[in-house]
Amino acid sequence: MEHKVEIEDYYTPEVFQRLKALADTKDTPFVVIDTESIRNQYDELVTNFPKASIYYAVKANPANEILALLAEKGSSFDIASTYELDKVMAHGVSPDRISFGNTIKKSKDVRYFYEKGVRLFSTDSEADLRNIAKAAPGSKIYVRILTEGAQTADWPLSRKFGCQLDMALDLLIMARDLGLIPYGISFHVGSQQHDIGSWDAAIGKAKIVFERLKKEDGIVLKMINMGGGFPANYLKKTHDLATYAQEINRFLEEDFAEDMPEIILEPGRSLVGNAGILVSEVVLISKKSRTGLNRWIFTDVGKFSGLAETMDESIKYPIYVEKNGELEEAVIAGPTCDSVDIMYENYKYGLPLNLAIGDRMYWISTGAYTTSYSSVEFNGFPPLKSYFV
Ligand SMILES: Cc1ncc(COP(=O)(O)O)c(C=O)c1O
Repeated sequence: MEHKVEIEDYYTPEVFQRLKALADTKDTPFVVIDTESIRNQYDELVTNFPKASIYYAVKANPANEILALLAEKGSSFDIASTYELDKVMAHGVSPDRISFGNTIKKSKDVRYFYEKGVRLFSTDSEADLRNIAKAAPGSKIYVRILTEGAQTADWPLSRKFGCQLDMALDLLIMARDLGLIPYGISFHVGSQQHDIGSWDAAIGKAKIVFERLKKEDGIVLKMINMGGGFPANYLKKTHDLATYAQEINRFLEEDFAEDMPEIILEPGRSLVGNAGILVSEVVLISKKSRTGLNRWIFTDVGKFSGLAETMDESIKYPIYVEKNGELEEAVIAGPTCDSVDIMYENYKYGLPLNLAIGDRMYWISTGAYTTSYSSVEFNGFPPLKSYFV
């Protein structure tokens, strides 16, 4: 990487100053989150997808401060577990604003959701569907389908979740026969998806299911849940949200026109990612031999304390440091006694030669999938803290 990361490419001066002012008063490592940015991003999603309902994917960042502000803004919530459910409902969110989006769940957990009043469940398998029919009778069911797009997403999701179209058809018919409401189709084209065309393919698949069920079985589906996949701002550039929305809305229009179903979006990364900056400190800088070419820069945050998505160097966070000057390639690694705790080794970040022990590193766009991934006590290090502006 030849160019130094510049803050202006990611934040307005006001936002960065707010974050920095708070960061300067705290010991590293931690994430600082600008709640105003989340508000703005929520509004931008609503503006760009005026007909869709937003179900925030709580897993991206389950902090109470974020849940409170999104609850207050009228967001709905995509929930993965009973723990997330309790947390969200504690903010006064009614069960009709909740979807149980995890296709992998225990029967007793389905019952728990049902008892709390939740009536919207995802599935992608027969065994799970039968569980839902017993534990949550009469509920609305949407079936998650497999999608393409794994190669063009930085954090692909599809292989583990979803089923082929023929199975989706079987499950929706079975849902009806088990006394459930066959309600719709869901998909997730992969998180941080660069190829907007992958929504086109997925919407096309949903349309096939809608049409076949209507024609052959008299089942009228009502909803498409398009999941997440919308981008945050990392090193590798993407189109802006407006471009994503313009194209995706066009795909929907082309396929559904006046029969437009209810549309659900489940943004995680795109809603909270940009709002956070993880601040760490350089612990050690070393070389492996007298003539070694690369510096190793060890910092007080790593794969086990919030930077899990650097696995396989999938997410490349922009890293800002205050020092200027000549850049030199460096390997960047975490503080634990585990050799997988290396964030970037193949992709060489250029960091200033005068970077020194004790200097701060600002990991940009780390509001999503950092604190929630942080281990509890690996090597004794406590979970990653977060502070809110
Ligand atoms: C079911 C579901 N919906 C939404 C999301 C959020 O996706 P993203 O962070 O790409 O917006 C995820 C992420 O894992 C998910 O599993």
